[in-house]
Amino acid sequence: MNGTATLIPQHTTSETLRGVEDCLSALLSPAPGLPGGLLEAMRYSALAPGKRIRPLLVVLAARAVAGRLGLASPALDPFPAACAVEMVHVYSLVHDDLPAMDDDDLRRGQPTCHRKYGEAMAILAGDALLTRAFEVLAQAYPGSVGGEACLELALAAGGRGMVGGQVVDLAAEGKLVDGHPPQTLEDLESLHRRKTGELIRVALRLGWLVATPVDCRCTTGAWKDELDQFGRDLGLAFQITDDLLDVEGHEDKAGKRVGKDAAKGKLTYPGLLGVEASRQRAAFVSERGRAALDAWGAHADALRALADKLLARDT
Ligand code: IPE
Ligand code: IPE
Ligand code: MG
Ligand code: MG
Ligand code: MG
Repeated sequence: MNGTATLIPQHTTSETLRGVEDCLSALLSPAPGLPGGLLEAMRYSALAPGKRIRPLLVVLAARAVAGRLGLASPALDPFPAACAVEMVHVYSLVHDDLPAMDDDDLRRGQPTCHRKYGEAMAILAGDALLTRAFEVLAQAYPGSVGGEACLELALAAGGRGMVGGQVVDLAAEGKLVDGHPPQTLEDLESLHRRKTGELIRVALRLGWLVATPVDCRCTTGAWKDELDQFGRDLGLAFQITDDLLDVEGHEDKAGKRVGKDAAKGKLTYPGLLGVEASRQRAAFVSERGRAALDAWGAHADALRALADKLLARDT
């Protein structure tokens, strides 16, 4: 071990996950004016047993950047940013499950938010989680960092990012009156990059943002691009694997219904390429993403390990 490495505290994944969940729970606490029933629905979906991939990526990226800078910890606490990304993700799941969208009744091993609390409350719980995410970023980070973090997250989650991808997803199954159905592999990749990839990419970007002291931004500018490339490819591999799980996975492991995409006429990787070619494509893009972190050495070990784990996941 070299001198720098001995400075860097080691964290186990379970400690980090506990940190994320404690922070998430604290950020979703009673507050004046916040209706109890709304908070209950927000907590029901947000604190249900998810994999917490996106918050984990924020924290791991922040630690990797700090490690590369030779610092013992990120410049700013990455946990609020991690929870903000998870809140946006959970809102997207709550709305994705609504009858007007994918019409699902099971999520994270429990009834979907609208099945438990009704459609109106599920829409509002999603709205409140989305807005709470930006409130958290603006409150938790000083100076321009909060504003930059809000901008990055808004771009990734909005009409040009995740929401735009969801529009194309629904257009593919003929749900939108004036949507142009996407059909080609190019369309599919662009759909997946937006509906899932952008939130995963921005998780790494927020990790970089909170880890880098302002006077080191020049030094770490290229690192940001490498994290972006890793995140883009990891996000694409993640959604290809999600498509594969819908074909080959098991409901009790995945915590959600399977076998629905083909029935609904969704545009998916296995639907377009078949299972084997989809698996190969996921492995290829995941490996390409890993290669973007070649210059990071051991500082990116935890990120690489997570990418490998996600490729082999059955949940
Ligand atoms: C499910 O995301 C929706 C997709 C974007 C594929 P996850 O598989 O990360 O779901 P949770 O957070 O573990 O429930
Ligand atoms: C969901 O994609 C993407 C978002 C929630 C933005 P899917 O519709 O494939 O996700 P699951 O399979 O319902 O989790
Ligand atoms: Mg969907
Ligand atoms: Mg869905
Ligand atoms: Mg899916």
